[in-house]
Amino acid sequence: MIVHDKVAIITGGASGLGRAVADALAEGGARLSLFDRDSERGVQAANELGSAAMFEQVDVTSESQVQAGIDATLARFGAIHICINCAGVPDAAKTLSDGKPFPLALWDKVIAVNLTGTFNVLRLAAVAMARNEPEPEGDERGVIINLSSGAAQDGQMGQAAYAASKAGVIGLTLPVARDLADLGIRCVAVAPGLFETPMVAGLPKKVALAIVDRMILFPRRMGQASELAHLVRSIVENPYINATCLHIDAGARMSTR
Ligand SMILES: NC(=O)c1ccc[n+]([C@@H]2O[C@H](COP(=O)([O-])OP(=O)(O)OC[C@H]3O[C@@H](n4cnc5c(N)ncnc54)[C@H](O)[C@@H]3O)[C@@H](O)[C@H]2O)c1
Repeated sequence: MIVHDKVAIITGGASGLGRAVADALAEGGARLSLFDRDSERGVQAANELGSAAMFEQVDVTSESQVQAGIDATLARFGAIHICINCAGVPDAAKTLSDGKPFPLALWDKVIAVNLTGTFNVLRLAAVAMARNEPEPEGDERGVIINLSSGAAQDGQMGQAAYAASKAGVIGLTLPVARDLADLGIRCVAVAPGLFETPMVAGLPKKVALAIVDRMILFPRRMGQASELAHLVRSIVENPYINATCLHIDAGARMSTR
């Protein structure tokens, strides 16, 4: 799909990878609707992106807030062609810690934001995409890209909920792509390794350095958000990528500890 003049919703667009995706799509001439629960950073990001961008304060787990964000996007830009789901939380705990089990409320939160939130946004965005006229070349109506994680397969200690949520994001890719294929809408997952963002800045420095040192093959450094954004834009632009999960991790493989 040609990015120029298309309308993209980006969840988690106020920070990190979502913000970098916004920059990359803006460079291609897209109009952007950033959904995030952080209104201060969201408004700032939209202001920096200029008149082709808007911000909506949306919690991705809420049906009514997502619908309101979609309605506001349609009112401002008239259509939705691209939906990039970057909103996510990394909360971690061990299955058992000092004899206490993983708090179920924490499990529910991580699954709600990372997995249910992703599906909530994409299903409501698909309603709007289905109304688009197909592209003159290739019959496309929409593209959905969901952020999974290397943790989907290689979860670290403490990441049971996070890994399960991100494996769920990969799991829904094929059935959603099958459900929407007749409408000309693609669905793709992206699984990043370790990228330099505010989320990763929350990791203890020792842990981050150990990952870079022992687990990343080449280039031996964290990924730049712009490198992830480059892949996302390529997926939007390449009509033959569908129903799959692409890894972007410099060959990283997580070790046991
Ligand atoms: N940074 C990495 O190394 C890395 C690796 C693998 C996967 N990921 C995934 O990429 C995505 C983006 O991560 P990031 O590193 O940019 O993190 P980040 O913390 O910089 O950005 C996440 C954004 O999501 C927003 N958000 C959280 N909960 C929300 C909710 N309920 N509703 C709306 N917005 C919400 C936050 O406010 C924030 O702006 C996440 O899904 C993350 O799991 C990141």
